[in-house]
Amino acid sequence: MEPGAPSTMCDVDVIRVTGGVRLTGEVGVVGAKNSALKLMAAALLASGESAVTNIPRITDIALMGEVLRRLGAEVSFHDDSVHIGVPERLHPEADYDLVRRLRASICVLGPLLARCGEVRVAHPGGDAIGSRGLDMHVGGLAKMGADISNEHGFVVASAPAGLHGAKISLDFPSVGATENLVMAAVLARGTTVIDNVAREPEIVDICMMLNAMGAQIEGAGTSELTIHGVEALNPVTHATIGDRIVAGTWAFGAAMTCGDVTVNGCEPRWLEIALDKIAQAGGQVDYGVNNFRVRMPQRPQAVDIRTLPYPGFATDLLPMAIGMAAVAEGTSLITENIFDGRFMFAEELKRLGAEIRIEGHHAMVRGRERLSSAEVTASDIRAGAGLVIAGLCGDGVTSVRAVHHIDRGYPNFVGDLRSLGVDVARAEVPSDPEYTF
Ligand code: EPU
Repeated sequence: MEPGAPSTMCDVDVIRVTGGVRLTGEVGVVGAKNSALKLMAAALLASGESAVTNIPRITDIALMGEVLRRLGAEVSFHDDSVHIGVPERLHPEADYDLVRRLRASICVLGPLLARCGEVRVAHPGGDAIGSRGLDMHVGGLAKMGADISNEHGFVVASAPAGLHGAKISLDFPSVGATENLVMAAVLARGTTVIDNVAREPEIVDICMMLNAMGAQIEGAGTSELTIHGVEALNPVTHATIGDRIVAGTWAFGAAMTCGDVTVNGCEPRWLEIALDKIAQAGGQVDYGVNNFRVRMPQRPQAVDIRTLPYPGFATDLLPMAIGMAAVAEGTSLITENIFDGRFMFAEELKRLGAEIRIEGHHAMVRGRERLSSAEVTASDIRAGAGLVIAGLCGDGVTSVRAVHHIDRGYPNFVGDLRSLGVDVARAEVPSDPEYTF
């Protein structure tokens, strides 16, 4: 950070893109934010030094580093890796100051309870994409023997005699609840069986790291996990899997701009339904090993898309799906089934002339050939990226404000856009300068 750089959002927190461009070329994707954050939390489960490699250099990872430091860990970043020195005794409290900046901090709940027998984590509340419940995290931990309550803005849990195995059925395959419960169960006494768990590749990644640490988890990637608790875990070095949401963002960027983009560093089968939708819209998709290529020879055709837990269409790609629908030939029905606030993005996209009618969790989108460039504001990570990508289909210069949101999830967004042929400008001021690498 430059000395004296401003610490609040300001005029320079803007990306400007010139529309009418075809995205072309190759782009690399690094480790997934939603894996790396949890892998860092998983390191808390073993004293000693663990390392997570292939991490993305984004604000959320820097914030997670700070969360772990405040719990007593020594955290240092080197190139694409983070080293986490975990002491025998941790400080089991994550305060509101950090949790409100990084909702994912809630994933320390399970590991801290397992290691310390007690924990206080600030309740993260809802956010711009909607209400974000914790009932399944809390209910599952209670079944494992935790005494758990919500006090003065904190989730407070204790299990002085340790956690025990349990049979847990989730109402919905929540990513966060699955992760917290698995990370608690690995050190519990006896066997925990969790049914209707999330099956995301990031869950598999965490289970692989935990098993490498000595945990005994069976069923990763299926809807039932069996976890045989062990006495203690060992530190490890683990490489994060590629970010399928960043990869998917480039795939839709290529499709919307009639472009031709090769994405390296992400397994395309994790994006199968999204890539299939692009193919249905008229795109050509070539699958490789840890890479893929998307070409769109003509204006995309309208396709209906609905978000669902993995392996369904990812909710984090909803803004990109609406963006493609906004420039497609015909009318698309886009349905959001995971978060109740995702359509805030659609309201902003209307400022770019998109023809969208929203009813409940459905958006009817009538495509137009070119969007009408304007100033818009990002409300979250994916909305921010989606607005910039939509701006590529505008008839002039689109300015997207509050792009500090994009910094939370996309490591080199402007540089990647430039390398794909976009005329893009941004004033380089970090948004959360208190927490950098
Ligand atoms: N839910 C409950 N109760 C719970 C847990 C979840 O009602 O106890 C509800 C939530 O309110 C939400 C739905 O279940 O409506 C899905 O929540 P889930 O727990 O699956 O999501 P999450 O763990 O909070 C992660 C990602 C999100 C991604 C979702 C869904 C991280 C840090 N975040 O959130 O990513 O959208 O899974 O795939 O892993 C992003 O990266 O931009 C992002 C928002």
